[in-house]
Amino acid sequence: MSVSAPPDEVLDVLRRQDPQIADVLLGEARRQAETLQLIAAENFTSPAVLATLGSPLANKYAEGYPGARYHGGCEYADAAERIAVERATALFGADHANLQPHSGSSAVLAAYAALLRPGDTVLAMGLDQGGHLTHGSPANFSGRWFDFVPYGVDPETGLIDYEQLAALARHHRPKAIVCGSISYPRHPDYALFRAVADEVGAYLIADAAHPIGLVAGGAAPNPVPYADVVCATTHKVLRGPRGGMVLCTAELAERVDRAVFPFTQGGAQMHTIAAKAVALGEASTPAFTGYAHRVVDHARVLAAALSAEGFALTTGGTDTHLITADASPLGVDGRTARARLAAAGMVLDTCALPYGDGRGIRLGTAAVTTQGMGAPEMARIAALFTAALRDEPEETARVRAEVRELTRSFPPYGR
Ligand SMILES: Cc1ncc(COP(=O)(O)O)c(C=O)c1O
Repeated sequence: MSVSAPPDEVLDVLRRQDPQIADVLLGEARRQAETLQLIAAENFTSPAVLATLGSPLANKYAEGYPGARYHGGCEYADAAERIAVERATALFGADHANLQPHSGSSAVLAAYAALLRPGDTVLAMGLDQGGHLTHGSPANFSGRWFDFVPYGVDPETGLIDYEQLAALARHHRPKAIVCGSISYPRHPDYALFRAVADEVGAYLIADAAHPIGLVAGGAAPNPVPYADVVCATTHKVLRGPRGGMVLCTAELAERVDRAVFPFTQGGAQMHTIAAKAVALGEASTPAFTGYAHRVVDHARVLAAALSAEGFALTTGGTDTHLITADASPLGVDGRTARARLAAAGMVLDTCALPYGDGRGIRLGTAAVTTQGMGAPEMARIAALFTAALRDEPEETARVRAEVRELTRSFPPYGR
């Protein structure tokens, strides 16, 4: 599914008033259009989402919740938030949704604030195994305020070690177990997580920042029936504006709402909440279901092609939109691979490799699938990777030209 171009009028106004920033926006638009966006956490939002973000709702202050605001003039803000909440609860089958978190990290912070007290023990995936900063990093509020115990993956298979998880839960009796990762390319077994949480009397928090868009399109299992609280981002496969969301049971609704506002946030960003509503509307369509399934199909094709080129894939493949790979069989570490691929016009991340040496690469197929690329393009991209990693100037220039040709055939915002 490809989307059409955003209107130019806004940029025309900006060009006249602030050419410096207009140049930055145009440069970024060109960068996005002329290189391959393979960062697993990124996507191209629709023109409707972009228009909503740039709408007068950006001017509105709306502390509180619909019908109970601390500011006047909130009738349209209330309507936007009610629509967003209704769409989220219907789409994910949740009792309750809070669309106010400013980001995925804010959603996790709110979940912890709703369920935990400082010093509580929490079981979460170790950061070196694929856990997010909010899962206990000492550089983050989570590691400073809670006592995190890390679980990990099996060194042989790369799959979550559920026996270790259960043993750690029995030993540490955590207040909550967090299930979710930045780089795990398989589906967590939510029923198993729930069983372990129930056995030790812990809350189950699913941090579905990455797979929530696949869940929306029926291309990944839904954590909602299993978790007490589900945290998510709205800007990855879900293809909405940058932001967060919390889904929870009716029983926890009030605690979650109070944890978002007034505990961890002030005024809601109403333009973003309205844009979340637009994205949730788009994600409720059969077209999005097709998109989500194509994202996974393409990730599988790309993973198989990268494996054939010599990359060592974590867990041997993927069931999701993301691929984690060790590039060292091709003679480069993750950082070098990222730099050489970027020089050839292919943008992706590095990530920790569980039990590996150094870092690997992490990439995803959400953005290129939005552009309308298909399985043949995935195979082509894998071959371009190997060519770019050789680091021969002529080869890099050839790959860059091929990337340009590819992006010209599949422009993110139409022609
Ligand atoms: C598992 C997980 N949790 C939380 C986040 C945080 O999201 P944000 O960057 O919007 O704060 C991310 C972001 O990638 C993530 O992957």
